[in-house]
Amino acid sequence: MSYLELSNVKKSFGTTIAVDDFNLSIAQGEFVSFLGPSGCGKTTTLRMVAGFELPTSGQISLQDKNLTYLPPNKRNVGMVFQSYALFPNMTVADNIGYGLKVTGKPKKETNARIKEMLGLIHMEEQHNKFPSQLSGGQQQRVALARALAIRPQVLLLDEPLSALDAKIRLELRLEIRRIQQQLGITTIYVTHDQEEALSLSDRIVVMSKGKMEQVGTPAQIYTSPETEFVANFVGQINLLPVKVVSPTQGKVKVGEQILQAGKFGHLNGNPIRLAVRPEELNHGFIEGANNLSGKVEAISYLGSIVRIRLDVEGNPISMDVFNERKLTIPSVGDDYQVTFPVEACWII
Ligand SMILES: Nc1ncnc2c1ncn2[C@@H]1O[C@H](COP(=O)(O)OP(=O)(O)O)[C@@H](O)[C@H]1O
Ligand SMILES: [Mg+2]
Repeated sequence: MSYLELSNVKKSFGTTIAVDDFNLSIAQGEFVSFLGPSGCGKTTTLRMVAGFELPTSGQISLQDKNLTYLPPNKRNVGMVFQSYALFPNMTVADNIGYGLKVTGKPKKETNARIKEMLGLIHMEEQHNKFPSQLSGGQQQRVALARALAIRPQVLLLDEPLSALDAKIRLELRLEIRRIQQQLGITTIYVTHDQEEALSLSDRIVVMSKGKMEQVGTPAQIYTSPETEFVANFVGQINLLPVKVVSPTQGKVKVGEQILQAGKFGHLNGNPIRLAVRPEELNHGFIEGANNLSGKVEAISYLGSIVRIRLDVEGNPISMDVFNERKLTIPSVGDDYQVTFPVEACWII
């Protein structure tokens, strides 16, 4: 059942269409990410849910109540920004209690809530500190606690981890998910980081140029991207230009090397490409699978993964392998055979 609903939402700034034809139903307790490159309309959409921005047209409703034109303080949503935006002259406790204080909650209740929130973010000890005495990660925890203290119906986070170091980012990411699940709070999370979106979300909305490209679970988005944009933006992908050999059987070729597409629609004469993720490739030859030979062009160490780039008939194609001790890494210039299953590739 739909809890938060955006229907035909559109927002223009002058002649710029920031968000167009946005339709989304979010269930209660669901964690949804808006994922897309900078400028695609993520923040604008979030700000319309928060009430900081009014849609040019369309409707936003929460539990069937129309929110579209309500001011932010009448919506019962909590928001966390990239820049922690804490009050510098207030302690951690006062920052967390701020929203309750302005709504005139009794002091006793406010203090109890502050305590509960401090526990939730594991910062009981720091209640008397000022923001300047905290690390970035701690400040962002406080910002999260402040947003949650009012017991919002919806939690909105706009790139909350972007300003933090990689390690803290990872830690806080797990923390956000834990808290979200513990409270069962309906959440929209804006990010341009595919890894964050994939690891955190129940569902992801991939956006490009103000439009929704695809909505789905992380697994759906990753394994079945519906557009080239999604395939390219989420994860790494090889897009190999191929010629059709047999339109009915999904046989294609690159140079003279024949490949079988796992999924293919109606293949007319248009230029097409075969998509396959780098981790689907393996070194070697397997009868009945897709096999390609090429030359090693580059080798990159990416930590736990090694990416081997080949030249296949003038096209780059990457293979990702785990950086295990037993791995034999070829040298640049070597002839190299790779294989991948038919089911792992599709025509775009
Ligand atoms: N207040 C504004 N005035 C004019 N244009 C804006 C304003 N806010 C956003 N935009 C434009 O709307 C588009 C979407 O912006 P935004 O929602 O901030 O994208 P994202 O958060 O995905 O980076 C961009 O082209 C941006 O320049
Ligand atoms: Mg933004």
